[in-house]
Amino acid sequence: MQIIQKYFIKTFGCQMNYSDSEKLSAVLESLQLEQVDSVEEADLVIFNTCSIKQHAEDRVFGHVNNAKKLGKIVAITGCMIRNTSTLKDLQKIRSLEDNNKKLEKLEKIDDILKRIEKNKSVDFVFRIEDMKNLPEILVEYDSEIKRPNFEKIKKFDSLENFDYLNISPKLTEKYRATVPIMTGCDKFCTYCIVPFARGKERSRKFEDILKECENHVKNGVIEITLVGQNVNAYFLDDTNKKTLQRQTDFSYLLDTVAKISGLKRLQFTSPHPRHMGEDMIEVIAKHKKISRCIHLPVQSGSSRILQKMGREHNIGRYIDFIEKLQKAVPDMMITTDIIVGFCSETDEDFQKTIDLFENQNFLMAFISKYSARKGTVSAEKMIDDVSDETKKTRLEILTKYLEKSVQKLNKNLIGKIESVLVDTVDFNEKKNKYIAKGRSHTGRTVLCEVGERGKAFIGKIILVKIIDFQKFSVFGELV
Ligand code: 5AD
Ligand code: SF4
Repeated sequence: MQIIQKYFIKTFGCQMNYSDSEKLSAVLESLQLEQVDSVEEADLVIFNTCSIKQHAEDRVFGHVNNAKKLGKIVAITGCMIRNTSTLKDLQKIRSLEDNNKKLEKLEKIDDILKRIEKNKSVDFVFRIEDMKNLPEILVEYDSEIKRPNFEKIKKFDSLENFDYLNISPKLTEKYRATVPIMTGCDKFCTYCIVPFARGKERSRKFEDILKECENHVKNGVIEITLVGQNVNAYFLDDTNKKTLQRQTDFSYLLDTVAKISGLKRLQFTSPHPRHMGEDMIEVIAKHKKISRCIHLPVQSGSSRILQKMGREHNIGRYIDFIEKLQKAVPDMMITTDIIVGFCSETDEDFQKTIDLFENQNFLMAFISKYSARKGTVSAEKMIDDVSDETKKTRLEILTKYLEKSVQKLNKNLIGKIESVLVDTVDFNEKKNKYIAKGRSHTGRTVLCEVGERGKAFIGKIILVKIIDFQKFSVFGELV
């Protein structure tokens, strides 16, 4: 038996995982555990993981080994844990005497579990949606663990059919909240592990989302980000509302949340280009508090590759949407995701991605080398025939084009005024001044000297006149 008093959560991956970790914290705090900022200080270390690329998974094992060496209780959750509900499945298998049989059984469930078992550093695993089972698991390590006070976290129907998405999070910052509206994905893009890791698309109840958003705003939150694997596949399970409105379900939700008074900023991630329509443009244009920077993953500039990826959108439609959006909202910035070196990608295909970058001026792009994920269509049925060398070169080339477009966009910003939500304020000894850093309404990272009040700017929106820029940040003066 060990004593568990302090916990540390290390989160990998997307905003959805960060949002889940905030809920996990709320559950652990209901057990009267205290959150700490490092593995060293903790008794319990939980890794909330991402499976998107192979190296994301590999990295976790390095961290896990390190935590175990320090004598911690180590757990894994998140996208790496797909097929087992609690440690009980794992325990059953662990108790088998015959080692070969044990590994054979584990392989059947999941090869990640086999790897976890071989690794020997992980004490238990749980699916993220089963976080309510944590007290039951932890009591095996520390019999003094308190019963959770779920009332304190959030009122919900009953424990049996309780949806973890309804747990009210422990916010990392009190002025900003991430609110999940749906989870899972039914798109099955041929390269993507997410539908296997997160399961089918499932939307939260409209009223629950609205209540949570209103509650956050009442408690001082000024920025809300609606998150989901495919936010605009949000599905409204209410025929009355459906017949009353002519908008798609996500536009209707966005429109409603944007009307909450006191909320100053609203953003969402990530939408799928396939569900983007005119009604989205109308809602965005109507509400100035909706971010003027939208993340719209395109993946490739070649329609042939998009088809092989199973993306169900082509470049023509993608560009058409952006053009309409920017016509309605002229200062709208676009960021995107790209995969280079997908199966059979030729120089010609890649050139089309370069052309897209030259014509579209993305403010940011997350560029990944294609990584074959076992179980996905591309890994099982296509050939990963672009060499790692070529993938690396294409990534470097595209990064150069990205830098060029960001530079162009930021140069155009000089002399303009940006509204910035300040995240951090640091004292710069050389300049003998406080420097505030934050994100602007058009998605820029902005740095600005602030006066004597220093840290008082954190969580506030300030107006900054842009005077200079450098690579991916811009600099300005307080207005
Ligand atoms: N290989 C490389 N990148 C991937 N992504 C998703 N799956 C893979 C993969 N197998 C990227 C996509 C997606 C982002 C979240 O991760 O660009 O939009
Ligand atoms: Fe993955 Fe495609 Fe679903 Fe996005 S839409 S999570 S890339 S399968």
